[in-house]
Amino acid sequence: MRVLITGAAGGVGSSIISQLRDTGLEVRATCRRPDPQRWPWLQTFPSDLNQPHTMRQALEGVETVFLYSFAQRDSLPRLVEEMKAAGVEKVIVLSTIDTTRHEPFVEYNKQRHLEVENAIAHSGFNAVCLRPGAFARNAIRFWANQIREHRTVGLPFPESQQAPIADEDIAAVAVRAITTSQLDGEKIVLTGPSSLTMRDQVGLISQAIAEPIGITELSEIEARALYGQVLPPEYLDLLMGQWAFETTEKAVVAPAVHDITGHRPISYLDWAIDHRDAFL
Ligand SMILES: NC(=O)c1ccc[n+]([C@@H]2O[C@H](COP(=O)([O-])OP(=O)(O)OC[C@H]3O[C@@H](n4cnc5c(N)ncnc54)[C@H](OP(=O)(O)O)[C@@H]3O)[C@@H](O)[C@H]2O)c1
Repeated sequence: MRVLITGAAGGVGSSIISQLRDTGLEVRATCRRPDPQRWPWLQTFPSDLNQPHTMRQALEGVETVFLYSFAQRDSLPRLVEEMKAAGVEKVIVLSTIDTTRHEPFVEYNKQRHLEVENAIAHSGFNAVCLRPGAFARNAIRFWANQIREHRTVGLPFPESQQAPIADEDIAAVAVRAITTSQLDGEKIVLTGPSSLTMRDQVGLISQAIAEPIGITELSEIEARALYGQVLPPEYLDLLMGQWAFETTEKAVVAPAVHDITGHRPISYLDWAIDHRDAFL
């Protein structure tokens, strides 16, 4: 069976590629700027989901696609057409837990991902929607520079809670969806193993690098200036609303990673130890 992994340079896509290596499947990968040296054992194609014609060659003869939800509203129908024309049968969509939430601040992200989920499901593909909560990897994007440079993290809401999930666990579920029919048609919420405040998360990173890390409480204006350096404005609004809200309750902890893969999701400490070099 020929499988196409989009977003190959991203954390989830690259982990799926590694986990598929010894399955005997014929794996192809797309990203906007592929590095052919990275995976000499598979075919990589320079393709952009927002320019669906650039996907055509990669899609030839592909039965199953792992799809990042980056296709925008006006390119989605053409992306669907390209996959249909190529004879794709199954599509695993990387979506978000926000599709299950009702607070007004998630609306932008929720609708963006629901459009992709619905376009796939309503076009007759066998659709599997993976709906992860916060990625553990966000700590690298949000905090690694601050930790490397000052051994401190600025937080507007230190008691905000998430259940961060490792890319490898999302990828393990995706691999199950690719290689079996067990998850066909399902929409699956995926989280890490426990609800942790941001203060806890920083503490676990500190433990992983064996160095103290301070926390500076920021006003929302200060936080917007700091996090605006690594986030587009639409996500900045979403995250400020979400982080404030998440101080009021524990994060959802879903059993799906364990139920589907048979292993406990990777703990935040183990994740931080595996990625300690990013913070040093
Ligand atoms: N971060 C979270 O906490 C979180 C939680 C739940 C769901 N998600 C969802 O998971 C997905 C990935 O998030 P992420 O934080 O991992 O993002 P990311 O690291 O910034 O992006 C991952 C991959 O997506 C591709 N990509 C990004 N922008 C693109 C565009 N405009 N057109 C085509 N491809 C694009 C990139 O592919 P190239 O290699 O081609 O550049 C990249 O390899 C998003 O849909 C996000 O909403 C994220």
